[in-house]
Amino acid sequence: MTNADLEKIVDTSDEWIVSRTGIKERRIAPEGMAVSDMAVEACKKAIESSGLKNEDIDLLILGTVTPDYKLPSTACVVQEKMDLPNATAFDIVAACTGFLNGLSVASALIETGAYKNALVVGAEKLSSILNYKDRNTCILFGDGAGAAVLTVSDDDSGILGTFLKSNGNLRELLWVKDGGSANPIPDGYVSEGEDKVMMSGSDIFKVAVKQMCNAAVKIIDEAGLTSEDISLVIPHQANIRIIEAIAKRLKVSMDKVFVNIEKYGNTSAASVPIALDEANRSGKIKKGDHVVMVAFGGGLIWGSALIKW
Ligand code: UT7
Repeated sequence: MTNADLEKIVDTSDEWIVSRTGIKERRIAPEGMAVSDMAVEACKKAIESSGLKNEDIDLLILGTVTPDYKLPSTACVVQEKMDLPNATAFDIVAACTGFLNGLSVASALIETGAYKNALVVGAEKLSSILNYKDRNTCILFGDGAGAAVLTVSDDDSGILGTFLKSNGNLRELLWVKDGGSANPIPDGYVSEGEDKVMMSGSDIFKVAVKQMCNAAVKIIDEAGLTSEDISLVIPHQANIRIIEAIAKRLKVSMDKVFVNIEKYGNTSAASVPIALDEANRSGKIKKGDHVVMVAFGGGLIWGSALIKW
């Protein structure tokens, strides 16, 4: 879906969207394609490039705010569709940081020795919870999925650190008010958009810039590194102006920051793994590189991770 397509639906313009967000197009999953279907495509590619077999995966963690069903978890649906007989599977609801929360949990569980090979997925069909009458939100988001396989490393590569934080006081800045147990949808409900994503964009923007910068700085500091040691920053793709602010604060040039927002928009939990995969497959990450990932989303919630590739 291009900006021109959106111009036909809401009072917006390509010029406004590109200059305020950096987004030119976003992917919209067709009717009948669930989050699990997108996740399966990503999982297949991740397992294939890891060299492992499906039976080797003993942990599957999927971050999403747009699950296939309220019950069971989408991770369990993916487990069945992928045929991962030896995995325990569960979802994480952490909005745009879902992949980083998944990475952090998987890494900690692998460190305990209880699990060996984890599949961590971020997948969203945000188009299913967007109000296409609300120009404040519908122009921003897209659908997609990304996945990574984590395993025990036999050298000094791996996840050097993760940082996760949230502030539930600010949860109403980005939320879907109706449809859960707090506000169930009664018979005869007429939607006025409160069963779709609602967002106070400019309030979120300020917190996002501050906390994503803090999270990125913190993870680098804690590893005893400086931003000069960082080969690539992979930020959540929410707004090019937020991404540029992070680069400025970290004092890294934009050629060390991975950006694909123009093609996908904000895909929430899928944003970081899609960017990680594109960075990796396009040869932007080499063995031994330090890569920082940083994300922010509804909760409010934010976090970062530092990888030695
Ligand atoms: O995934 C993590 C969570 N989400 C985020 O990180 C999003 C963070 N926020 C943002 O990216 C930005 O705040 C937005 C892109 C959502 C909005 O940009 P902004 O520069 O903060 O604009 P604004 O909300 O302050 O709105 C400025 C003007 C308003 O018009 P008036 O009141 O000045 O006349 C809006 O009504 O732009 C108007 N506007 C639009 N105009 C054309 C808002 N949306 C649109 C639109 N097209 N789609």
